[in-house]
Amino acid sequence: MGVAGSIWAGLLLQAGWVALADLLCLTDGIARDSRRFIPDPDNTSHLGAETPIRLVLFDWPSAAVASTLAAIFIRALGHVAMDCWMSEILFNFEQFVLANPDVAPIDLGSIGYSGENALAVRGSVREAAYASSGLALEFYRSYNVSAHDAAAYFDRISDLKLSHFHPCNTSSNEFANDVEMRLYGKWTGDWAGVVETDSGYIANCPDGHFWISPACRHNTSECIPVLAAGNGWIVYVFMQWSTFYQIPAAIGISKTWDTFTANVAAFRVLFHWWIPDATFHHLDASMLQLPRHKAQEWAVGNYRSADPQSYIAKLVAHSLGSVAPKVQEFLENFDLDLEVAAAVPVEDVACEWIRKNRARWKKWVPVDTQCFGCVGV
Ligand SMILES: *[C@@H]1O[C@H](CO)[C@@H](O)[C@H](O)[C@H]1NC(C)=O
Ligand SMILES: *[C@@H]1O[C@H](CO)[C@@H](O)[C@H](O)[C@H]1NC(C)=O
Ligand SMILES: *[C@@H]1O[C@H](CO)[C@@H](O)[C@H](O)[C@H]1NC(C)=O
Ligand SMILES: *[C@@H]1O[C@H](CO)[C@@H](O)[C@H](O)[C@H]1NC(C)=O
Repeated sequence: MGVAGSIWAGLLLQAGWVALADLLCLTDGIARDSRRFIPDPDNTSHLGAETPIRLVLFDWPSAAVASTLAAIFIRALGHVAMDCWMSEILFNFEQFVLANPDVAPIDLGSIGYSGENALAVRGSVREAAYASSGLALEFYRSYNVSAHDAAAYFDRISDLKLSHFHPCNTSSNEFANDVEMRLYGKWTGDWAGVVETDSGYIANCPDGHFWISPACRHNTSECIPVLAAGNGWIVYVFMQWSTFYQIPAAIGISKTWDTFTANVAAFRVLFHWWIPDATFHHLDASMLQLPRHKAQEWAVGNYRSADPQSYIAKLVAHSLGSVAPKVQEFLENFDLDLEVAAAVPVEDVACEWIRKNRARWKKWVPVDTQCFGCVGV
């Protein structure tokens, strides 16, 4: 999983159990009192000797839609089980499986789309540039400062509040990641973009908050603001992209999720966006197309190609297959495309999708006559 993996791990940390709302979404669904529960002799659910299936809801919207969809089907069609989706994958999954073959969750395959990180541009900015000069801002080469003036379609860092951004020397942030800052210098040759301190290399930020790429270092008013999130998730990748492709970028790490989303919505900026996530769906954003991912380059810290596509799995408890084989089969078949993951509130989106896509999900539901070792669920 590499670099991208660390982001998913960061998001996984926010996982929690979801309390499932008790709505009857399918008109031919099974009412609450008639649903079946599965045995839980060890009381692992803390709910007694029987338990409904429980799904883990991760903290990004498309994951919410996926979990909610699965929950509605399993509830309403009478296939119920327990402790279904793994809740605490806080560390490397493969190592965990090797170390705990008896309890490790089972990977039922892809959820239907892959994860990806990129810089994104909102639709209104993209369309304004294309209408006035034919410049395609969803393509990385359009940002080459020697060939185009992409910055003309964006706001300036002076339009943003410095107080919304972490100082670049914040020790837990990626701008102060000695290993990555050295890799930046090594692969781009731009040693002026980093500074050596007592605690290692950190990003060189003239105003203390924004790292400035070589393409606009002579005049930061010519930079396009690039907004990063979290503790600066993959800013070192954005730094390398900016330098390799002569993008005039001023990269800042937002202090909070709220300031990040508010500034992205209020200003014309480039911003970090990833799949699956629906936060900026309403902005009609496009991800920047970069050269195809080169795993061998990324393995040595050279990030000039696109981010790898991350595998997003459906994980189920080890015991699910024996106590609720139909549920397991259903989840194996379950796959989504990203359009489903588009909006809030989650339950409404999930319900609407279910009603419109009956032909599709019918194929996921195991037929009743199929035999699964005679276990009843
Ligand atoms: C199951 O666990 C809960 C909470 O730990 C406890 O209150 C309950 O009595 C247990 N039920 C059984 C049947 O052991
Ligand atoms: C970051 O830089 C500021 C301004 O130079 C300084 O006051 C602060 O102590 C530094 N913080 C760290 C963690 O190095
Ligand atoms: C910096 O760039 C801005 C925007 O293009 C321009 O108005 C300003 O004159 C430039 N400043 C200098 C010192 O060149
Ligand atoms: C940027 O554009 C200039 C001028 O067209 C060109 O010489 C240079 O190779 C381009 N840089 C990249 C990384 O494509």
